[in-house]
Amino acid sequence: MPSTIDQRRKQFEEALSNVRDVDDLSAVRDQYLGRKSGAIPALLKQMGALSPDARREFGQAVNELKGYVEAALERLSGELEERAEKARLERERLDITLPGLRPRFGHLHPITHMRQRIEAIFVAMGYTIEGGPEVETSFYNFDALNTPPEHPSREMQDTFYLSPDLLLRTHTSPVQIRAMQRRRPPLRIIAPGRVFRRDTPDPTHNPMFFQVEGLTVDRHIHMGHLRGTLQEFVRRLFGAELRTRFRPSFFPFVEPGGEVDYQCFVCLGDGCRVCKSSGWIELGGCGMVHPRVLQGVGIDPEEFTGFAFGLGIDRLTALIYEIDDIRLLFENDIRFLEQFGV
Ligand code: FA5
Repeated sequence: MPSTIDQRRKQFEEALSNVRDVDDLSAVRDQYLGRKSGAIPALLKQMGALSPDARREFGQAVNELKGYVEAALERLSGELEERAEKARLERERLDITLPGLRPRFGHLHPITHMRQRIEAIFVAMGYTIEGGPEVETSFYNFDALNTPPEHPSREMQDTFYLSPDLLLRTHTSPVQIRAMQRRRPPLRIIAPGRVFRRDTPDPTHNPMFFQVEGLTVDRHIHMGHLRGTLQEFVRRLFGAELRTRFRPSFFPFVEPGGEVDYQCFVCLGDGCRVCKSSGWIELGGCGMVHPRVLQGVGIDPEEFTGFAFGLGIDRLTALIYEIDDIRLLFENDIRFLEQFGV
């Protein structure tokens, strides 16, 4: 019998030397100590067949073996845990001396940059910045701006209607009305923002584009103030003495009304590709605020007069950045936009 025990001990030592991980270890533990088919419980079961003396001796030897096996398994289990912990630490080691990942910097969209440049110029001239809703009522977009019900700009094919009375504003001019309702003259505001028209997209038209509205109302305001203000704006925007010219035009909310052009900043009036050989580039619409518009917001046109203008930001941006097609500004192609990073 002792030879059986010695044999088992040798087999156990052999099995233990082949253990590589906790799974191997657990298999060896089952093999030797497992209640059902473990080698040591099997030895204990054999004791019944022995004489009392032999049983005592054999029992002692089996218990010794059991103690030995348990201690050896315990020791190896500790060692394996330690090894696993070391390997984990090695795997998760951080080299804090490595350079960090360079963060990608975003930049302003060219239109945002242009809007900020425009705002800065007018703010320096004493204007404050106002805003208004993009979803407007027909009252603010048309009626209050002296635009009669039969005016073509009210047609379904020109305006995005949300309901018979709600629409996407077609220009920033409704902010004039909101500002005059809120504040009394003297008033000097600009209102940059998005506007919407059912225009078919082409290189100079988008169904959504940006305008900046300007409005001055005070005593004794006349056309000279309008001309001087826009002339000064062009001078500050281009940093050059570019001339401006005013052509008569009709907008229901101004009288007289006009379009303002500036001398081409590329050829200085000689004619080139940018100004389509005319020497001039259109900036936007403008005029003296119609007396009926002032009356509508409770401002006495006998006491106060004003001028207003509305400039298209997208076309200006496209010209200054030499972009041939304003549709490119809203395709959100990062490779295109990155070229104008500021
Ligand atoms: C107006 O929208 C008037 N509210 C401007 C105004 C304000 C006149 C105050 C008098 C007093 P107009 O429709 O011309 O005017 O548009 C002004 C500018 O918006 C144009 O000069 C042009 O630069 C720009 N614009 C017009 N339609 C588009 C379009 N589909 N895509 C891009 N820009 C456009």
